[in-house]
Amino acid sequence: MIFDPSDHPYRKTYHLMTSLIVPRPVAWISTVSADGVNNLAPYSYFTGVSSNPPVLAVSIARRRDKPHVKDTLANIRDTGFFAVNSVPVSLGNAMVVTAQDEPPETDEFSLAGLTPISCEKISCPRIKESPAAMECKMLKWVDVGENHPGSSVLILGEILLFHLDDGIMDGDRINLSKLDPLGRLNNNFYTRLSEIFEL
Ligand SMILES: Cc1cc2nc3c(=O)[nH]c(=O)nc-3n(C[C@H](O)[C@H](O)[C@H](O)COP(=O)(O)O)c2cc1C
Repeated sequence: MIFDPSDHPYRKTYHLMTSLIVPRPVAWISTVSADGVNNLAPYSYFTGVSSNPPVLAVSIARRRDKPHVKDTLANIRDTGFFAVNSVPVSLGNAMVVTAQDEPPETDEFSLAGLTPISCEKISCPRIKESPAAMECKMLKWVDVGENHPGSSVLILGEILLFHLDDGIMDGDRINLSKLDPLGRLNNNFYTRLSEIFEL
């Protein structure tokens, strides 16, 4: 079959993209608002884009209903900083709780029973229970699309500091079996690394 996105509602295109671009790592993003409220939410339109300088990208969609700007985006815009926390499979249910559409006054750390701890170089907290986190400074903000439903803002963030629990390390290398990262598929489906092989 052939599918031309211009002939269909964007939700269908979204479904195709989130089925073809799989599995996706989940950036569990912690931020703080200008008023000092901690925020936490998962984002899987996420990847690394450069190693020198170390830069990652995350895409934050505009909401269909008001307010269009998600809290994560508003907080990055207002403070310039965010932390990307890893999601091991064991924290999957807590991660889903933090994806609920909550008002800006809600602290999703409390909602999900997670512990905020201070970052070293940036003002927002990271998740104590997560075995790895990257402290990031916003480098660039790129509007993708014309402010209509399904359009996004792409954030490029420079990684200023990595936090790596000893429990996921073999020497100075991350052991992926110990990290046990959650992978996002389509709809409410997820996967984990079940077999690792070399090519
Ligand atoms: C696993 C997962 C991945 C998600 N990925 C994205 C994403 O890449 N972009 C996006 O805009 N929303 C994504 N969402 C939805 C947001 O997490 C959701 O809209 C959340 O309420 C935003 O919270 P905030 O307003 O506190 O930032 C994802 C949800 C889940 C469960």
